[in-house]
Amino acid sequence: MLAQVFDNLFDIEFMVKVERRLQNLPVTASNIANGTAYPSGESGSHCLMGENIFERTSLNTVVNLMDDSEIFFEMFDRIEEYLDEKYFLDRIDFNLQHSFCDGTSHVDGDEDGGEITIMYLPNVKWEKEWGGQFQILDKEQNVIEEHEYVPGRVFVFPGEIPHRGLGPRHPYVYRYSIVWRVRRLEDML
Ligand SMILES: [Fe+2]
Repeated sequence: MLAQVFDNLFDIEFMVKVERRLQNLPVTASNIANGTAYPSGESGSHCLMGENIFERTSLNTVVNLMDDSEIFFEMFDRIEEYLDEKYFLDRIDFNLQHSFCDGTSHVDGDEDGGEITIMYLPNVKWEKEWGGQFQILDKEQNVIEEHEYVPGRVFVFPGEIPHRGLGPRHPYVYRYSIVWRVRRLEDML
């Protein structure tokens, strides 16, 4: 599999806290996953509702930090600990997809750029018939890997792999995802 999949990293109480936090955050319609000037490009083919939580453009230049965003850093610390890895964090975003708002195939990072995407599925309740699968595609846009939306699931995959998330098939279900874009610290030294 191209994506590593991890379940049960967080207990239900913490998952509920994360979901509530997201549900109370305002979203914009300009969350572009593959901006042409990665990591801060403003044009790309893939636009979902959502918002940037954290972004830095160099080691010491933080250009955005959302208020009261500690929980997303706490999650990141726990994921790092679980994976036994140390990462340089470029940005944190969350995405929100309403019914039938399928993501388009896109990449999160440059080829051989060493970018890694860590993605968490925050919806605490999810039924299989609601869809919302995460898909990995080849360069000809064929789906080569598909994963169900499982509450609390964490994916880790190379940013250069084409992927997308499908919107829910229920009119009043909203599909959230949280994404940390990172690079291995040891690769940067
Ligand atoms: Fe993405």
